[in-house]
Amino acid sequence: MAELLIIGSERSEAGIPAAMEILRRGGSALEAVERGLILCEDNLADHYVGTGGLPNARGEVELDASIMVGSSRAFGAVGAVKNFPNPISIARAVMEKLPQHALLVGQGAEDFADSVGFKRAELLTPEAKELWLQQLRDVPVQSIEGENTKAMTGDVRYRLAAIELVKKFAPHEGPWGTINIIARDRSGEIVCGVSTSGYPYKHPGRVGDSSIPGAGNYADSRYGAAACTGRGELSLRGGTARTVVENMRHGMSAEDACFEALKDARNLPDDFRAELRCLAITADGHHGGAAGMEGSTYTLMTESSTQPEFRPRKALL
Ligand code: GLY
Repeated sequence: MAELLIIGSERSEAGIPAAMEILRRGGSALEAVERGLILCEDNLADHYVGTGGLPNARGEVELDASIMVGSSRAFGAVGAVKNFPNPISIARAVMEKLPQHALLVGQGAEDFADSVGFKRAELLTPEAKELWLQQLRDVPVQSIEGENTKAMTGDVRYRLAAIELVKKFAPHEGPWGTINIIARDRSGEIVCGVSTSGYPYKHPGRVGDSSIPGAGNYADSRYGAAACTGRGELSLRGGTARTVVENMRHGMSAEDACFEALKDARNLPDDFRAELRCLAITADGHHGGAAGMEGSTYTLMTESSTQPEFRPRKALL
């Protein structure tokens, strides 16, 4: 019988203790990951996931999420979903209830969620709206290089300002808000889940790495599982989660596998001084993580933990 294990990204501690309780009671890694991420999505103090997530450039909260089962490599995901508080559950339903499909986006994903009975909800909390507006009021429109912004219509100025904001937000301090949870249950099954509201002021319709297998999420029970947070466009381009798992397949530790995958992604040209982070577990239950900056951590609970522990990630710089 395998030892129980859960790791998660920064702020996953809102859901990991309940997820470990599920494993201790004999529940599956799939159930544990979904439950852990639901609690993170419902955490109103968290502005990077679920209800209370910071909205896109149009002021709408759009969510991405995915879940992957290591033994079968079954995968379910949704992207750019509005008005449903728990995209991780819709992602699971895509995997389990929709033959042949792995990823639904936008209106189609919302129609599917209605059809399987998920409840709609308002995701933009007053606090998230105020944070969004406050940054928008501070936009230095005149800083848009080479453009006579005064002569433009409000609509065009607004969109340019939103693009400026995307640039401003990209390198902000502290962890990007996406949440990863990876769990291993008694049977040795490994499941990896990812949920996010993406980055604030993103272009409407933007889907990041959290919904894409091999980019932000990958699980293969033979070798392990990995997930990413941070600039999703980099892990989309680098195939980062799959690279981590491939590195572990070739014998690297979880930490080295993450570190090498981040080094590869860091070499991609990127105007936004992006930071990417990843974490992983091996098939035999070793774990590790890496990040672009010092002081980053991931969260861990084992069978004997009484509370989440924080472990350092290996820093690239
Ligand atoms: N890594 C999450 C995102 O880029 O949306």
